[in-house]
Amino acid sequence: MSEMMSSVRGMRTILGAEAQLFERLHDVVHELLHQFGYQPIYLPIVEKTALFKRAVGEETDVVNKEMYTFNDRNDESLTLRPEATAGVVRAMIEFGQLQQVQRLYAEGPMFRYEKPQKGRYRQFNQISVEAFGMQSPALDAELIQLAHELFVRLGVREKVQLELNTIGQSEERKRFAQALVDYLTPFKDQLDEDSQRRLSTNPLRILDSKDEKTKALLVNAPVLDDYLSEESRQHFAKVCAILDHLGIAYVRNPLLVRGLDYYNHTVIEWTTNALGAQGTITAGGRYDQLVEHLGGKPTPAAGFAFGVDRIALLWADSVGLSAPKSQVYGIAATDTEQSALMAMAQKLRAQGVSVWVQSDSQALKKQIQKADKSGADYALIIGESEREQGVYTLKNLRTGEQQTLSAEALLTHFQA
Ligand code: HAM
Repeated sequence: MSEMMSSVRGMRTILGAEAQLFERLHDVVHELLHQFGYQPIYLPIVEKTALFKRAVGEETDVVNKEMYTFNDRNDESLTLRPEATAGVVRAMIEFGQLQQVQRLYAEGPMFRYEKPQKGRYRQFNQISVEAFGMQSPALDAELIQLAHELFVRLGVREKVQLELNTIGQSEERKRFAQALVDYLTPFKDQLDEDSQRRLSTNPLRILDSKDEKTKALLVNAPVLDDYLSEESRQHFAKVCAILDHLGIAYVRNPLLVRGLDYYNHTVIEWTTNALGAQGTITAGGRYDQLVEHLGGKPTPAAGFAFGVDRIALLWADSVGLSAPKSQVYGIAATDTEQSALMAMAQKLRAQGVSVWVQSDSQALKKQIQKADKSGADYALIIGESEREQGVYTLKNLRTGEQQTLSAEALLTHFQA
């Protein structure tokens, strides 16, 4: 036998009941997105490396440490997308779509070279929700309302909490970053290694440090709030007021700064304690400067991404993993009856009934046993006598009750 091939570390194959759950999750999210007026956009998985460097930021972990970057045969530097916002913005500018308001969602696999563990993968899935052309804090609140509604529909709202912050506008952040650097520099030796580096590259990210010593030093550090303009405060206050009105609970987390560089004003993370270390299941915020930064006309924008793998894990915890069963298990006694069964199965499917047809003919008794085990509601049986009389046997697998029906009566039986 040849040596078995295995998959790449951190790149999952999703199969069986989990794959079914993924599909159901996508159905629920799509319905919700359509109700909020969002349209799909299909993006390439590969973009020019420069796009992510410019959009996400050269000094972020995503760009610095985690990108799958390669040169193609033409020696052009390309990258497997680590996220979708950059691609959506690139597309909006490239195809001149920003004359009007846009509400879009882009979904599929993203790639980051992170250390794999439960809930953290090198290929993972996002549904990225992006809105353009709306400046009002009402948009920030609506994006939160959308995610809140998903968690309600999935029955997991009690397991997640909403963390919010405002990081103001770039001038305000610059002044705060300087103050933070001035404050931390004398303690440089006591900071963790990442934070020492960030002191010169990306000081705001130090607020995100998980290191206890660094956290202790931050207790007396300057706070971003003190550097915010009246306009920034007002924007955030309005987001909060709408959420209060909608009855959507949130926690203000003044240390929330996000790991991607394009945000301003409101930043959002939905977190859970139910998944261990990888607790952020959905995250995003406003990014009013990104369109201009990527060469478009200034256009306000905001969005977030559902972390599909993590939401599916959380959902599986509450609904369990069970593959949906066919309603009808079709059985033909011999090959002669098989085509009649397939024809009837097709008519039933056209009525919205799901029918699983046993294709390899086996002894009738064995097939009925299999039907019982399959979890289907009914067995539809065509034996020789049924074929001769032009009728069908329908066995209710829950009650054991059995009926002989004409084609017409059978179809009527399954009419909604
Ligand atoms: P992000 O916070 O980098 O934001 O990722 C969003 C979500 O994707 C995370 O909250 C998490 O659920 C999931 N995620 C990220 N990395 C992994 C991983 N390695 N394994 C499994 N799940 C992961 C963004 O990507 C932004 N583009 C979101 C956004 C959209 N902001 C504005 N619009």
